[in-house]
Amino acid sequence: MSQGTIALASDHAGFALKQVLAEHVRAQGYEVMDLGTHTPDSVDYPDYGTAMAEAIAKGAAEKGILVCGTGIGISIAANRHHAVRAALCHNSSTARLARQHNDANVLALGARIVGEEVAKDCVSAFLETAFEGGRHAGRVAKLGSGA
Ligand code: RB5
Repeated sequence: MSQGTIALASDHAGFALKQVLAEHVRAQGYEVMDLGTHTPDSVDYPDYGTAMAEAIAKGAAEKGILVCGTGIGISIAANRHHAVRAALCHNSSTARLARQHNDANVLALGARIVGEEVAKDCVSAFLETAFEGGRHAGRVAKLGSGA
């Protein structure tokens, strides 16, 4: 049975890693919603951060994974939208804490910064970890975001 739907999006710099991560997400039992890009041709990362935000906002996916060269531009783009709490992570510890403390609903990764195995570890931690709530709940509420 599917664990739910995870949206993935990248620009050209993140395209190859996005394809690898899509398989990794499927292997964990989730449905994948691929928002593009679908080729290595040059595109603009804001378009894909925005596509992710729209998918999260309308509830088409519970969580999302974004990839660009650094993870920076695409996470900035996604975080301009009310429904998104995107966390740029570089290892499984930050990915886990992004869920536990920040209730991040989008994981952002830099394909030119982290290797494939580290990226997969980040995705696993992000998907497996629950928000802790408690003292963190009021802080997340103050961010004023939420789907
Ligand atoms: C594309 O060359 C690169 O600028 C983009 O993928 C990203 O790293 C921007 O933040």
